[in-house]
Amino acid sequence: MSIRDQVLERIPEIPALPVAAAQVLSLAQNPESGIGEIMAAVEHDPGLTSDVLRLANTAYFAGPRQIATLREAGVLFGTQRVVELVLASAVFPITKHPLEGYDLPAGQLIKHSMAVAIASEGLAVLLKRPAPSHTFTAALLADIGKIVLGTFLNVDAAPIAELAQDEQISFEVAERRILGIDHAEVGAVLLKTWNLPDNVVDVVRWHHDPNQLEGDRYVVDLVHTATHLSVGCGLGIGVDGLNYRPEPEASARLGLDHQILERATCAMVAELIQMQHSLPGNS
Ligand SMILES: [Fe+2]
Repeated sequence: MSIRDQVLERIPEIPALPVAAAQVLSLAQNPESGIGEIMAAVEHDPGLTSDVLRLANTAYFAGPRQIATLREAGVLFGTQRVVELVLASAVFPITKHPLEGYDLPAGQLIKHSMAVAIASEGLAVLLKRPAPSHTFTAALLADIGKIVLGTFLNVDAAPIAELAQDEQISFEVAERRILGIDHAEVGAVLLKTWNLPDNVVDVVRWHHDPNQLEGDRYVVDLVHTATHLSVGCGLGIGVDGLNYRPEPEASARLGLDHQILERATCAMVAELIQMQHSLPGNS
């Protein structure tokens, strides 16, 4: 059996999302669900509720306000944002272990993922073109395939990094050469088994190859660019180092210039510094 097939065969063994989070996701995808129903599903899980409130109370989301209950968060942010907070809170605990194979210390991937989510939305604000509602979630989950490969499947990424370095190819190309699959595809397969919406799965699948996505590429271009801003600041760099290539077409499609990139980077770093002690699973 090829390494690719072995990886794909083991993905269903990855722990499912907590029941409450899965329920929230499925309610959120049903246009008939009301905010009350969604809140009730979260409240069934007290641990999840307190993680959501901790994240909701960071300056990025709440500003100077204090949010005491989920219902308050729902009124202030709207349903979509609460669903994003639930998903973040549900996924982060599985990232609190060090990512051995990828040589990422505990907590690094969380910071990187949150930085990518913040920068994706920040770029959209600077471009004066609103980020579609799935942007935050897709950005947050873009690298979840690394958790699958590095933690659950114990893939040793050192030879992949060596190949990338020796042949001057990008890290995900080296992953494909050695494993027959890269962390973007692994993440997309996992998220499909978790029943995440197709628009999130597609962005995760193509976050390193935005030109491959058929249809509207706005969100994948934001996430692709934000990934490079985060890596450029040294966030979430493990054995894969700086071996990722930004696609010039993504920048051109977005109409980015240096000023926008600098402002997005500064805002991302400032938000992350304020937020990092509040990240669920990072205490
Ligand atoms: Fe990635």
